[in-house]
Amino acid sequence: MKKTRSMLVGIAIVLCLALTAATWSAEKGTPENPWVIGMSQCNLGEPWRVQMNADIKSAADAAPSIKVIYKDAQNDTLRQRAHIEEFIGQGVDLLIVSPKEAAPLTPIIRNAYTNKIPVIVLDRRVVGEDYTCFIGADNKKIGEAAGRWIAGKLNGKGNVVELKGLMTTTPGQDRNSGFRKGIEGTEIKVIFEADMKWLEPDARKEMESALARFDKIDLVYGHNDPAAHGAYLAAKAAGREKNIIFVGIDGLVQEGQAYIKQNILQASFEYPTGGKEAIEIALKILKGETVPKEITLKSRVFTPENLEKGGEWLPEMPASSAPAQPAKKEQ
Ligand code: FRU
Repeated sequence: MKKTRSMLVGIAIVLCLALTAATWSAEKGTPENPWVIGMSQCNLGEPWRVQMNADIKSAADAAPSIKVIYKDAQNDTLRQRAHIEEFIGQGVDLLIVSPKEAAPLTPIIRNAYTNKIPVIVLDRRVVGEDYTCFIGADNKKIGEAAGRWIAGKLNGKGNVVELKGLMTTTPGQDRNSGFRKGIEGTEIKVIFEADMKWLEPDARKEMESALARFDKIDLVYGHNDPAAHGAYLAAKAAGREKNIIFVGIDGLVQEGQAYIKQNILQASFEYPTGGKEAIEIALKILKGETVPKEITLKSRVFTPENLEKGGEWLPEMPASSAPAQPAKKEQ
């Protein structure tokens, strides 16, 4: 009888231990059972977005408690919506989204957020505030700084071509309105403007039209470095690149900064990817810590004069320059 009782106690202990082990291994956020993060990238066609994913990957590789699954929407809003839907269906623990456009992607991001999946929105904004945290640089401030820099470079007077980013995205809207504010009160004329949708081939085509229409172009302001580079190539093909100054935004070492070294661009404004910060914030959210609703990344300007020194930080701006809130139009 005594023997049977101690045998039963033994079995109970073994069962208890097995159960505890099972609970331990089911615990989330361990190398054996990491939290799963779905990363929805709108496009990997530009070096800047490839860099964003690389920044996310190197930060995530150092955190064994998470695993990141990547999807590339190839610049297609509907595909990106489907990707986010798939992540929700899969039951990911957190979403990082760098949306192609604001309005059409707002409802699906809101859907994830209201279904208790934390969402970090990176770089381009959505409509409203139904997400956990937005991370990005201040595009209005960058546009305004570009405007001031350009006004200084042209001594307050000249003909400018503005190659705009996709205008259904907030960086496009803010880089445009910020720039117009920066050149206010000068005699700078924007003689040609076009939406190049963030794409170098489109920028090149638009610049060909500008060159065909105008004999005197002093400067091209591209909303990103691919645009400024596309414009440069068009001007070079027309034999006019030496008479035009090219300015862009992004300032990647391997792109904008390299173009400055090659004397193609005269300025590039840094647009940090936020990839590293997205993983830092994701870890905090997953551990149950509270995070700010908005994180604004700092930006520098790179020019031939300051490149060696690591560029120059943009000054702080007054709070009046609020970033764009896209119109509440949903599909
Ligand atoms: C890449 C890109 C960058 C730009 C950013 C704006 O797709 O066009 O060049 O800075 O997106 O969202």
